[in-house]
Amino acid sequence: MRDINAIRDTYRKCFNLPPELVVCSPGRVNLIGEHTDYNEGWVFPAALDLGTLVAARRRDDGVLRSVALRMNDEDSIRLTDLRPREGVAWTRYVRGMAAMLNESGCAIPGADLLIDGDLPLSSGLSSSASLEMGIAVALAALAGCPIERKVLARLGQRAENEIIGVQSGIMDQLAVACGVAGHALLIDCRSLDATSVPIPPEVRILVIDSAVPRTLAGSAYNQRRAECEAALHKLRAAQPDLQALRDVTPELLAAEAQRLDSVELQRARHVVTENERVLASVAALRQGDVARFGQLMIESHASLRDDYAVSGPELDTLAATALETPGVLGARLTGAGFGGCVVALVEAQHAEAAVATIGERYRRLTGRQGAAYICAPSDGAHVVDEAA
Ligand code: GLA
Repeated sequence: MRDINAIRDTYRKCFNLPPELVVCSPGRVNLIGEHTDYNEGWVFPAALDLGTLVAARRRDDGVLRSVALRMNDEDSIRLTDLRPREGVAWTRYVRGMAAMLNESGCAIPGADLLIDGDLPLSSGLSSSASLEMGIAVALAALAGCPIERKVLARLGQRAENEIIGVQSGIMDQLAVACGVAGHALLIDCRSLDATSVPIPPEVRILVIDSAVPRTLAGSAYNQRRAECEAALHKLRAAQPDLQALRDVTPELLAAEAQRLDSVELQRARHVVTENERVLASVAALRQGDVARFGQLMIESHASLRDDYAVSGPELDTLAATALETPGVLGARLTGAGFGGCVVALVEAQHAEAAVATIGERYRRLTGRQGAAYICAPSDGAHVVDEAA
C-alpha cells in the first residue's frame, strides 16, 4: 500500500499531471467488542497496514472525476449535481463523501481522484470506511478545511447510513480516522473518546479471511440493530433512564429477563457481556496478560455465535482451527460477521508458522482458500505525500 511512487506514476498517465497529494487510508481489524458500537458501548479496533490510496488534484471546472483502479471503472459528475444515491456502489461512497463534506460547510473544489489499494474487499476489514475516510481526507485537504477526526468519522457514518442504507455504527470510521501505529484504540462509542493502547511486542495480530464474502447491506445487520432497540425499549419499562444497551448491567438484565422474548434476551446478553469483555481485555493487555486477552477473544466468539447469531460454519471452523495452532492465544470473528475474517492473537515467534498452518488446515477442511496476514497496527488516514 505504501508504494506512493507507483500511484503518482499511474496518476500522471491517467490525468497528464502529477497529483497534488496522496492520502493513505487504512482498513481496520477489531480485536474485541463486536456489535457494541451502535449500542453506545466499547470497541477495541486497530488500523491495518493494508488500505486505500487516494491521489488527488484540484480542477477548476467543478467536476469530480474519479478513477478506481481495482474496479477498472471511472466516474465523472458535476459537484452541483452529485446525486450520490445513484450509480454503482463505489461511486456512491465517493459522491456521498463529497456531498457530506459540502453539507458540513467545507466547500470542496472539483478534483481528479485516483483510487487504489491493497485491502481485501467485502472481507469485513472495512474497505468502505477506508474509502470514505481516504476520500474525505483528500477532498478536505484540497479544500483547505481542517476537519476534526471525529467529525470526519461521523460524516463517513452518515454516508453509510443515509446514502448506502446500512445502519452501521461509528467504529469503522473512527478506527480508520484515528488509528495509531503499534496501538489498538479503546473507543467509548458514547463519547467517541479513543485511547491508544500499545500492542505488546511479544504478540502479533493475524487476520485470516474465511473466503466467505459478506455484504453488510444484504445481511441481517440492520435486523440485529432493530432487535437491540426492541430489547432496550422493553427494558426501559423497568428503568426509564436507560439511554442504550450500554447502560444495562448484568444484574438488571437478569432481574428483568422475563420482559424480553428469547431472541431479544440473547442479543442483549451478548451486548452486555461483550462490553464487559472489552474493558476486561484492555485491562489485561495493560498488565501484559496476553493469555487472558486471548481467553476473552474466545469467549467473544462464542457469544457472537450463540447469542448474536452472526457466525457461520466456516467462521467457526476457522476460529477453531486457529485455536489448535501452536502459539495462538485467542481467535474470534471480526467485524459484522456473516462471513469475512477471523482475528487471532499469536505469540510472535509462532506467527509465521501459524499463518501457513491455519491456511492449509482451513483449506483441507472447507476447500476454501483463506488468505492470512500478519498485521502491523498503523496510523489513521493521513496525507502521505504533498507536491512541493
Ligand atoms: C460493521 C459495522 C460497525 C460495527 C461492526 C460490528 O463493521 O460497520 O459499525 O457495528 O460491524 O461490531
